[in-house]
Amino acid sequence: MAFTPRVFSGTQPSGDLHLGNYLGAIKRYVEMQKTHECIYCVVDMHAITVWQDPDNLRRATREVAAAYVAAGVDPKKNIVFNQSRVHQHAELAWVFNCVARMGWMNRMTQWKDKTAGKNAEAESLGLFAYPSLMAADILLYKATHVPVGDDQKQHLELTRDIAAKFNNDYAPSLKEQGLDADFFPITAPVIAGPATRVMSLKDASKKMSKSDPAEGARILLMDDADAIAKKIKRATTDPEPLPSEERGLEGRLEANNLVGIFAALSETSKAAVLTQFGGQGWGAFKTALADLAVAKLAPIAAETRHLVADPGSIDAFMADGAARASEIAEQTMSEVRRIVGFLG
Ligand code: TYM
Repeated sequence: MAFTPRVFSGTQPSGDLHLGNYLGAIKRYVEMQKTHECIYCVVDMHAITVWQDPDNLRRATREVAAAYVAAGVDPKKNIVFNQSRVHQHAELAWVFNCVARMGWMNRMTQWKDKTAGKNAEAESLGLFAYPSLMAADILLYKATHVPVGDDQKQHLELTRDIAAKFNNDYAPSLKEQGLDADFFPITAPVIAGPATRVMSLKDASKKMSKSDPAEGARILLMDDADAIAKKIKRATTDPEPLPSEERGLEGRLEANNLVGIFAALSETSKAAVLTQFGGQGWGAFKTALADLAVAKLAPIAAETRHLVADPGSIDAFMADGAARASEIAEQTMSEVRRIVGFLG
């Protein structure tokens, strides 16, 4: 069966959104709505896999939804909602917990990284099972395309494995119910562009992340112009001038990262950025990058602030999105109940 092309993606309302979230995901959500039917979720159920203060979770959930819209996502044309409003996510995740194997989950590098050197026994069961909920998020809508940053690649491979195993395990039941043999699609990750993995401004061997204790390592979506410029000026670089060609970036992690950020913000390629700046020193490049980042991010931050000042309107578009999401979700879930043999 040919699946209707449909995009699903989500961002956690935990910590503050940073440039990696914007370039790796949110900016690309905006691009994909031009060509696809899109569902964008604020994954609050994922956020509570580590402790979240309830007031803060409410604030962060609205802020992420506001940032989607401020960046250009249209909540009327597309579906924007918070995950917990559509209970079928949890329901399908349970079925997938019974499809996925312990060995698969144990191999998840994000789990391994998060628990490395720590007491894994003290982590929540939810954190371990989290990729199964992520598969449910995607497959509940039979999404065919998922725009994400590079760090989510393995979770999307797991989603494909879960879909294939479900289709296979329940093949006789699918037939009996008169449903297609490929009930769940084998979803394609969409990991593209010059900034699929934005690195720390302080240590370009590490991903830019919410949890890095060094403030200067990340640019926040809500940073003011001053903070953005300071962080870029203080970003670690090497002593060489910028290369003129892309292969000159090989082995130069900091240069590769900053040029990638410039290319993504200006919607060109790294090669084009190097044509412009090749042979120049870091001073001029950093000034241009700071100006560009401020020009692109400041309007989004201003609009996000404007939107969060009226939480009622955010709640309204998310309730509307959730109502539309629920219709698709219940359609899938009612079939899944029949397929697995649940009565009722
Ligand atoms: P989360 O909330 O950690 O990040 C949201 C999105 O931002 C991307 N991202 C980055 N991209 C480039 N460079 C970086 N340094 C960087 N840091 C984060 C992430 O790849 C992601 O696309 N498990 C997901 C949320 C999720 C989800 C889903 C995503 C739950 N269900 C279903 C897609 C489909 C997560 O924790 O993302």
